[in-house]
Amino acid sequence: MKLGEELKKYRESKTGRFHMPGHKGRSSCLEDVFVLGNDVTEVEGLDNLHNPTGVIKDLLEEVSTVYGSRKSFISTNGSTTSLQSAILGVTVPGDSILVSRNCHKSVFNAIILGDLNPVYLTPEYEVESGLSWINDLNSLEEAIKSDDKITAVVLTYPTYFGICCHMERIAEIVHKYNRTLIVDEAHGSHLKFCHDLPKSALDAGADIVIQSTHKTLPSLTQSSLLHVKNEKHVDRIESIMSMLLTSSPSYLMMASIEASIDMMEKEGNDRLKKNMAYVEKMAVKYPNAGKIFKSKDYFMERGVNDFDNTRLLFRTSDIAIKGGVAESILRKEYNIQVEMADLNYVNAFMTACDEIEDIERLFKAVDDMAVKYGREVENVEALKEAETSESLTAKCPESVINIRKAFYSDKLCVDIKEAEGKISGSYIIPYPPGIPLLCPGERITNKMVEKILEIWESNIEVIGLDKGKIKIINI
Ligand SMILES: Cc1ncc(COP(=O)(O)O)c(C=O)c1O
Repeated sequence: MKLGEELKKYRESKTGRFHMPGHKGRSSCLEDVFVLGNDVTEVEGLDNLHNPTGVIKDLLEEVSTVYGSRKSFISTNGSTTSLQSAILGVTVPGDSILVSRNCHKSVFNAIILGDLNPVYLTPEYEVESGLSWINDLNSLEEAIKSDDKITAVVLTYPTYFGICCHMERIAEIVHKYNRTLIVDEAHGSHLKFCHDLPKSALDAGADIVIQSTHKTLPSLTQSSLLHVKNEKHVDRIESIMSMLLTSSPSYLMMASIEASIDMMEKEGNDRLKKNMAYVEKMAVKYPNAGKIFKSKDYFMERGVNDFDNTRLLFRTSDIAIKGGVAESILRKEYNIQVEMADLNYVNAFMTACDEIEDIERLFKAVDDMAVKYGREVENVEALKEAETSESLTAKCPESVINIRKAFYSDKLCVDIKEAEGKISGSYIIPYPPGIPLLCPGERITNKMVEKILEIWESNIEVIGLDKGKIKIINI
């Protein structure tokens, strides 16, 4: 058995952590939380998350006040359970649901569980940046109007890459048609605490908002919040949450949420502002890193509504290094682990728990890597690369069989190179970010086969691909 040994090795390796959880392995706010004696069960005085009447009720009320919800819930099974509770809590089997195609796999799984009919909204692909986001609000409105059985709309805000769509205008449109707006703000639980960051989705008018506090706050892995704005949604979401959540929720996790929010209220604004200001300095001090560093201005120039500057994005394909390769160089040669890479970018997460020395270490390493391994790329060549790769957020593939029906159909395993024209029997998901390239029931095109192979061969984990084989529907 080696897991413990490997964890110890990583813990002691002094790796620069630019990945979640947000505490980065050292937040002082967890010192009194993360002790074995706090790992308890529902004994007298410690309340019960499934029927809160004491200290947990107080905590939930404080969370609700901080974030501005009608009611807030804690999930100790991540935003996966929060999202599924939200979706199952506002729909009934047979409903339609409008879902942005760049949603996390937990949203698609909720569609299967809830027997819903998905209507997909395809984020627009922006060639120069190689990223996709929801921008065309007319298409969103047309999609809502196209099916009066759509009860809810689900969007991701910010995206894994920090891009924020126009949430206020989207909320207006969704509410004009009396639908419920569910926002996956898994990457945005810190927004509320810093004035220089985009508005939180709840403040921008969303009805239900889900946050992975473990990603951007210092709370423990799997801790998540679900905020509900309207009383009418509270009861059913509460019952579904109680169905899906463990009956032994972790006190360590709950207490870590409390400690994180407390810390962020006191210090979050200052810490995040200091770090963001330092990033700007580093982009100048290390010009080879600065040249490929893409922050808010870059995305705003390309039509993004807002951007979360705690996402440190380096577009390594600009210097002819694939994102996955750059991620691996940073880990092996500079002892830095970033959160993720796609074909074009490495994506490093910065939180309030990073120190300025960490930020300098990252920029210095990227700068050095750029000098050592990078080469000038003709703009045309870079654009061509971007166009063919289309990042990891794919255009919407043709859905041939309903996702739930496909999930329950008989499957066959075939080599991915022989899968063109077949119907996918499972998800194909580069991880992270956990956004499906293919869902069960969708057509596998030649372009998709090429893309999956390119991602797989670029050092990026692809869930659903087993030694080059893919499950297809047996028809
Ligand atoms: C956008 C998004 N939503 C939801 C989730 C699921 O969150 P959790 O890991 O807290 O279950 C993730 C996880 O990476 C995510 O990136």
